[in-house]
Amino acid sequence: MRKGRVLSGMRPTGRLHLGHLYGALENWRRLQDAYECYFFVADWHALTSDYADAGHLREYMHEIVLDWLSAGIDPEKAVLFIQSRLPEHAELYLLLSMITPLPWLERNPTYKEQLREVTTKDLSTFGFLGYPVLQAADILIYQANFVPVGVDQLPHVELTREIARRFNHLYTPIFTIPEALLTEFPKIPGTDGRKMSKSYNNCIYLSDPPAVVEEKIKPMVTDPARVRRTDPGNPDVCPVYDLHKIFTPAEERQGYVVPGCRTAAIGCLDCKGVLLKHMLPVLGPIAERRMTLAGQAGRVEEILAEGTERARKVARETLTAAKQAIGI
Ligand code: TRP
Ligand code: SF4
Repeated sequence: MRKGRVLSGMRPTGRLHLGHLYGALENWRRLQDAYECYFFVADWHALTSDYADAGHLREYMHEIVLDWLSAGIDPEKAVLFIQSRLPEHAELYLLLSMITPLPWLERNPTYKEQLREVTTKDLSTFGFLGYPVLQAADILIYQANFVPVGVDQLPHVELTREIARRFNHLYTPIFTIPEALLTEFPKIPGTDGRKMSKSYNNCIYLSDPPAVVEEKIKPMVTDPARVRRTDPGNPDVCPVYDLHKIFTPAEERQGYVVPGCRTAAIGCLDCKGVLLKHMLPVLGPIAERRMTLAGQAGRVEEILAEGTERARKVARETLTAAKQAIGI
């Protein structure tokens, strides 16, 4: 017996990298064994900020689903779909917008921060303000018990709970109040030592074959104080060591990498060799599965078509109940 329903989504913003693998997908992969899982591509959410630059959406959507599948998200276990193929989400979004007080949206910390910080696009739109209401519709329409998200999304889940409570109170209690499942995010540096991010061009992608991973790791930034081979280093300030924490067993880290670095018994290239020895057996098969899947014309579409119909059954039921509760 499955323990309850889990729902989560990702905006299609390009190929996924190690940050997504350890920040979300590994968690999704574990959840799909224990819960009834719904995972979807939030293409409408991508439009809320990238409406003027939507030319790549279709391509990104395909890429992201390939990445999910190659990382082990299993369409036999989880329901995979595309948000925009379910107009039911939009209809519930409309209904929820009627009961959502404007100040709840205006004081949303994510909204305020982005309005302030994003200068490359105009975010003073109705759609962008309504982002969390659409997210609430995504979650509530599946009566999800749990929503695995990173800390940045907590305000949105909290708002979803408030909107659900308000609806249940105003009409009939039909909505499950969801809970956030906070995903612990290990620190994942890019090859330049900054946070791994597409815009910094420092990513290791799930689609990178072993040769490319090697090429990216070899010149990766290390402890900046370790200039010469004979200088001792400090793993605590080294981004390569942050990757060791993910891939290299603790024993080998404590017994070989750390003492080797601190005494200059090993060089950074040796150290990266150890890292690659543990990284490639994880990433190699992912990239290989991705190649195979990408070569199977129509496979992604088939999975999405099936997932969409499975999702629609649940979504319709909730939408009907919501309309009945309101009396329309
Ligand atoms: N806002 C989420 C993000 O940017 C994506 C998302 C949309 C989502 N709808 C959702 C996540 C519903 C969880 C549940 O990451
Ligand atoms: Fe970093 Fe390893 Fe070099 Fe030490 S030996 S500075 S941990 S790359």
